[in-house]
Amino acid sequence: RDKLVTGVQTCALPILAIFFRGMTPEETAALTDAMMRSGDLVSFEGWPRPTADKHSTGGIGDKLSLMIAPLAAAAGLAVPMISGRGLGITGGTLDKLESIPGYDTRLSVEAFKRVIAEVGCSVIGQTDRLAPADKKLYALRDVTGTVPSIPLITASIMSKKLAEGAETLVFDVKCGRAAFMRSRGDARALAESLSRVGRALGRKTAALLTDMDQPLGRTAGNAVEVAEAVETLKGAGPADTRELTLALTAEMTVLGGVHPDLDAAQRELARLLDGGQALEVFRRMVAAQGGDPRFIDDPSRLPQPGAAVAVPAPQSGFVSFVDAEAIGRVVLQLGGGRTATTDMIDPAAGVDRLVQAGEPVTKGQPLMRLLAQDASRAEALVARAAAAVAVAAEPPPARDLLLERIA
Ligand code: URA
Repeated sequence: RDKLVTGVQTCALPILAIFFRGMTPEETAALTDAMMRSGDLVSFEGWPRPTADKHSTGGIGDKLSLMIAPLAAAAGLAVPMISGRGLGITGGTLDKLESIPGYDTRLSVEAFKRVIAEVGCSVIGQTDRLAPADKKLYALRDVTGTVPSIPLITASIMSKKLAEGAETLVFDVKCGRAAFMRSRGDARALAESLSRVGRALGRKTAALLTDMDQPLGRTAGNAVEVAEAVETLKGAGPADTRELTLALTAEMTVLGGVHPDLDAAQRELARLLDGGQALEVFRRMVAAQGGDPRFIDDPSRLPQPGAAVAVPAPQSGFVSFVDAEAIGRVVLQLGGGRTATTDMIDPAAGVDRLVQAGEPVTKGQPLMRLLAQDASRAEALVARAAAAVAVAAEPPPARDLLLERIA
């Protein structure tokens, strides 16, 4: 026990010093570089396609990776994407993908590269051999209350992303009440720090600050988000989901040299979404990773909830706000998220058919459906879910989804 305490103190002191004093960009880059080199480095040197990835700081209904990886691949990039699990109110791409029957997120580095070579993209989970120093440091940050430090967050995110080997990295830094960074200033500082370290270590970077006061799309959970991602890959899906998919993928293809500018990129990417090419890449990726792609044409093959309970609107009017944080908590309580890394999630639990700000509603009309294993669990959350949606007499001003671009 004494040894453990001494060990923690030895490691915790520099972390506390960083937390209180900060680090210069050079120091942050040096720490990131050392953490990145603590494990395996994936290399795509000599590959015929430019490599690119996107990282999101996480939010409610954020299923963008599921569309962005295949869309960027359809445009000509190679996309190595190593994703994380959800924790607390924030969902994780890995949990979403694992709701696909058979989909294997635990590929070896060799298999990961083989899928990317064959299909154009692969999305897997983090292995223990990728930036292992981050896992240890994060555990220490967690117990010492030093997680919210921009240099430490930067080194943590970037050590894993850089080890993954992509030449281009695009960041979606979420900002708002359900985001890791609640204020615009903090979100901007993180976006700038991530971009700076990426460039210092030889990568091309861009960052967008995007709104996370309200959920993205009309679903939050796991299987329901996969179904919505498929809709978006079919050229349909909610407008906000499509807009951010195109905006972030365009940043990747322009930096990767596939498209000359963002306007041309958006036009070409919209064509690839609407023409089904991105969907085809997604289908092939699922199959290459052991998944059964038949859910793409028949969503009932995804895990189904035992009960779906509608949440009625308390009054008529216009939806003025949907509180992403409150929706995230409802999803958690329905069984769709985890409060500890060891918790099991129910892949079918979540929220679907969620209204969005600006839409007219009449009293009694469903604001969303709560999906759970049994009706009593969902019914107990109806009042809480209803309180997450504000209905007003007048429509709200248009939502600002894309807040800022950090070049
Ligand atoms: N995500 C990470 O990977 N690390 C952090 O420190 C914070 C968010």
